[in-house]
Amino acid sequence: MVSIPGGHRFETLRKDHPRASFSSGTSAVDSWLAAHALQSQRKHLSVTRVLVDDQGAIAGYFTLATGQVDFGALPAEVAKGLPARALPVAIVAWLGVDRRHQGRGLGTLALAQALADCHAAGRTFPFVAVILDCIDEAAKAFYRRWDFREMPGQPMRLFLTARLLDALMEGEREG
Ligand SMILES: CC(C)(COP(=O)(O)OP(=O)(O)OC[C@H]1O[C@@H](n2cnc3c(N)ncnc32)[C@H](O)[C@@H]1OP(=O)(O)O)[C@@H](O)C(=O)NCCC(=O)NCCS
Repeated sequence: MVSIPGGHRFETLRKDHPRASFSSGTSAVDSWLAAHALQSQRKHLSVTRVLVDDQGAIAGYFTLATGQVDFGALPAEVAKGLPARALPVAIVAWLGVDRRHQGRGLGTLALAQALADCHAAGRTFPFVAVILDCIDEAAKAFYRRWDFREMPGQPMRLFLTARLLDALMEGEREG
C-alpha cells in the first residue's frame, strides 16, 4: 500500500492550482498541465488529478482518459475470447512529479492512485486494459517496474489487462 505523505492530498485539477510552476524536467509533461489539462477536462475528454503538497504547490499529477484499441492490436492470448472489434480501454495519458519531489516515491504514489481510479471506474464503465504511451525510455523504465507489458509492435505503448488490474487492487486490499 502506498501512503500519501502528511499534508499532501489529491485534488481534481482546478483553475486556482498553480499549474504554471510545476516542473518535472520533461517539457511536454509540464506544458500539458500548464496549458491543456484544464481545457481538456472542461471538454470531458480527460480528468487530471494533482497531488498538492503542504505548501499548496503541485508535487505531481496524472491525467486519465478513455479510448479504444483494435482487437488486433492486443497479444493473441489477451484478445482470446474478446469480440473482434474496437475495445474500450482506460488511458493513463500523462503523469509527472515535480523535480523537487522526485525520488521520494511520489511517482509510484501517483501511478498507484491512477490505477486505483481506473479500477474504481471500471466497476461502472468497464474496459479491457489500461494503456499508456511512454514519452521516453526513462518513463518506460519507470512503468516497466509495474506489470505493464509492451503492445506488440508498439514498443512505447504499454498495457495492463483489466484482469491483472483487478488482481493487483484486490491483492492490495487483502495485503
Ligand atoms: C518518471 C517519474 C514520474 C518518476 O517519479 P518519482 O517520484 O521520481 O518516482 P519514485 O520515487 O516513485 O520512483 C519509484 C521507483 O522507480 C525508479 N525510477 C524513477 N524514475 C525512473 C526512471 N526514469 N528510470 C528507471 N527507474 C526510475 C526509482 O528509482 C524508484 O525505484 P525504487 O523503488 O527501487 O527506489 C518522474 O521522474 C517524472 O515526472 N519524470 C518526468 C516526466 C515523465 O517522464 N513522466 C512519465 C511519462 S508521461
